[in-house]
Amino acid sequence: MTRAPKRAGRQRPNPYAKPDVYATRAKEAGYAARSVFKLEEIDHRLRLLKGGLHVLDLGAAPGSWSQYVCEKIGASGRLLAVDRSPLRVTLPRQGTFFQGDALTLGTELAQHAPYDVVLSDMAPDTMGHRQTDKIRSFELFDRALDVALALLKPGGVFVGKIFMGGQFPEVKEKVRHQFDTVRVLRPEAVRGVSYEVFVVGVGRKVAVPPSD
Ligand SMILES: C[S@@+](CC[C@H](N)C(=O)[O-])C[C@H]1O[C@@H](n2cnc3c(N)ncnc32)[C@H](O)[C@@H]1O
Repeated sequence: MTRAPKRAGRQRPNPYAKPDVYATRAKEAGYAARSVFKLEEIDHRLRLLKGGLHVLDLGAAPGSWSQYVCEKIGASGRLLAVDRSPLRVTLPRQGTFFQGDALTLGTELAQHAPYDVVLSDMAPDTMGHRQTDKIRSFELFDRALDVALALLKPGGVFVGKIFMGGQFPEVKEKVRHQFDTVRVLRPEAVRGVSYEVFVVGVGRKVAVPPSD
């Protein structure tokens, strides 16, 4: 029996195209993106954000995490939001935006350092080739973690997004080594088709100088 040829141009529906309950809620609440509910859940579970904190938000555009952070840290806090693309919202006075590539920026990232919290929701432009996407996600995560290790206060917190893949155990081990506790969270707002998770390091360890 010969198999019927596949119909040309027939594609699977794009699961990201249709606004879901989170997209609708974000729009109603005036947030730039549905991603805000991922950070909200992480924050509710781990109690990360409060008034007066200094926060770095890597991969901040279109801006919903930064909006949420500004609400939580209040006027006495400081937020530096960084992205290659511009934000789609205007942040209140405690928030500053810097447009650039987090893979190559240097001292610009230290504007409000040392930080209490470093966040990274950075994601590569996906190619539809899973392995490549995962490798690029790993690079962004690894860079965010290095920035966090350089700029966090002792006791500080790191939250980084990564696409689950082969390098995951290595990533988790690196975080475990540098923080008191490591948690891996997949908030409910993460779409079913997505393989992203958030690795959270709580309590940046203080580097102890080697003894003689
Ligand atoms: C999922 S979006 C972030 C959504 C954001 N947290 C929000 O709530 O609006 C991922 C972002 O990572 C950014 N990004 C990816 N690679 C980057 C890089 N090398 N430097 C800075 N931003 C980067 C993209 O431009 C994109 O805006």
